Amino acid sequence: MKTIKQLKVSTPSSNYSIYFGNDFINSFPLKKISNSKEIFFIFDSKLPDLSIRKVKSFIRKSKPSKFESFRFIANEKNKSLETSQKIIEKLIDLKFSRDSLIVSFGGGITTDLAGFVASVYLRGIEVMHIPTTLLAQVDASVGGKTGVNSKKFKNMIGAFKQPEAVLIDTYFLKSLSKRHLAAGYSEIIKHALIEDKDLLSKLDNFDQNIQKKGNITELSNLIRTSTKIKANIVGQDEREKSVRAYLNFGHTFAHAIESVQSFKGLNHGEAVGVGMVCAAKLSLLLGKINSQEFDKIKSLIKKFNLPTKLPTNCEPARILKAMQSDKKSKDTTLRFIILDGIGKAKIVENVDREKILNSLKI
Ligand code: GLY
Repeated sequence: MKTIKQLKVSTPSSNYSIYFGNDFINSFPLKKISNSKEIFFIFDSKLPDLSIRKVKSFIRKSKPSKFESFRFIANEKNKSLETSQKIIEKLIDLKFSRDSLIVSFGGGITTDLAGFVASVYLRGIEVMHIPTTLLAQVDASVGGKTGVNSKKFKNMIGAFKQPEAVLIDTYFLKSLSKRHLAAGYSEIIKHALIEDKDLLSKLDNFDQNIQKKGNITELSNLIRTSTKIKANIVGQDEREKSVRAYLNFGHTFAHAIESVQSFKGLNHGEAVGVGMVCAAKLSLLLGKINSQEFDKIKSLIKKFNLPTKLPTNCEPARILKAMQSDKKSKDTTLRFIILDGIGKAKIVENVDREKILNSLKI
């Protein structure tokens, strides 16, 4: 019998569970999540065949009356209205009803796209996620942010759509590259820094070799603690009117780095790694953490193989300009999430230009 742990998420719009375990998909009954008999499976075609077969067999065991799939290459270009439309036309052609369930299987691009389609098809059908990257397990699949990219900007089109459930199976992480794992650790570090000092010391002592016996269970525990932090925040502020903004710690800097590099340099998690060093430096400059705390944050980020320096083409003045033209920033005032001591976040506005530029000197 596989050990499966459960975390209940409660938001104003819905209540659902996240299930955690290692290689448990095939022993998990889908009917525990949904009674839908019409299942539409959206998955990233780059995933290993064995993993795809595992999830298809998990779905078939629920004896659906209709079971169809959509495979696509999950990349930023395909996270689009065009791909959503292809999926929607297929759902229409195959006569999927309002009682259908979409099962998404892939990283954040897949969960975002599938969630978006589920939010608009017939004004909303059920969706559940089986995230396969560490980043999607601790961040993208939880909290109901879904969306696609516009022609020019990332994530400009979307909806809040909470899933029926999320199945977080560490089995899928075993085929992830070191670089993709690091990208996910970045979001776990973020959750620890804004909310949980204990998680920070666990990360400090964590041995990242997940092939070593026992380490995958420890990673599963870290994922659970991290997800719980996000779920609590989303429970208080589903639509990002207040505390959910804390989850953007490091992200104002990260988005600017990604945009200056035309999304072809650091990946999102890596950009968040450097972005958190900048946000920690800003916290130091504003007197909210001390230099030992800043050094500790920087070395933890480094320990998880994340960059701690700005890439060569990202001079501070260019990053500041990119932050000022971020389409998602509120009017023209820049808002930053800083640390008010380790384990506590705070929003600041009207920061001097000099301080912002100095926070980029890391
Ligand atoms: N990734 C940040 C959020 O879900 O709010």
